[in-house]
Amino acid sequence: MNAQTDQSPAVSPVHPPIAHILSLDEEDLPAVQRIEQAAHIFPWSERVFKDCIRSGYYLDGAYDGAKLLGFSVVMPILNEWHLLNLCVDPKRQRRGIGRLLLEYMIEQARKAEVSSLWLEVREENAAARQLYAAYGFKQVGLRKAYYPAKDGREDALVLMRTLD
Ligand SMILES: CC(C)(COP(=O)(O)OP(=O)(O)OC[C@H]1O[C@@H](n2cnc3c(N)ncnc32)[C@H](O)[C@@H]1OP(=O)(O)O)[C@@H](O)C(=O)NCCC(=O)NCCS
Repeated sequence: MNAQTDQSPAVSPVHPPIAHILSLDEEDLPAVQRIEQAAHIFPWSERVFKDCIRSGYYLDGAYDGAKLLGFSVVMPILNEWHLLNLCVDPKRQRRGIGRLLLEYMIEQARKAEVSSLWLEVREENAAARQLYAAYGFKQVGLRKAYYPAKDGREDALVLMRTLD
């Protein structure tokens, strides 16, 4: 379409009510990898995602129509669930998709009668820390030099919240 006659906004807004969540499998990994690589300086490899799927971890994606906007990876260990990855396409961030995926995880965990949710987050990751704090996650540990970083290593905060 000719750009001058296209009246649609350059970036179409996406609101949580029109995004839906689907379980992902190996055929979705190219789209997952595109987002992972765009969002992280040190992205997971496709091998890691495949291992997660083959290990029975939950890989869920938020979609707008057929377009993947973001995803989460959860490792269930009995009545504890660990959020291993939560990632939103950088072009679609700050529109409620991370919140939607986190709320979905919490809802699924409640249904499965899970007692606690765990995750690690980079100390410098203010956006993610603010999101998790808003959902009741509290720091319960610190892993020194846990993550690779541009200038060496970065600490990870271990966050946890219980479920009623
Ligand atoms: C962290 C991340 C998943 C958040 O997803 P998102 O869809 O952009 O976030 P949402 O729009 O749902 O925001 C929910 C809340 O998170 C916080 N938040 C999100 N982005 C933020 C930012 N850039 N700065 C500060 N707070 C932010 C806010 O509290 C926000 O609520 P508000 O918009 O009402 O203020 C996303 O930034 C991302 O994918 N980052 C790269 C990967 C990553 O760091 N993942 C976390 C690994 S632990």
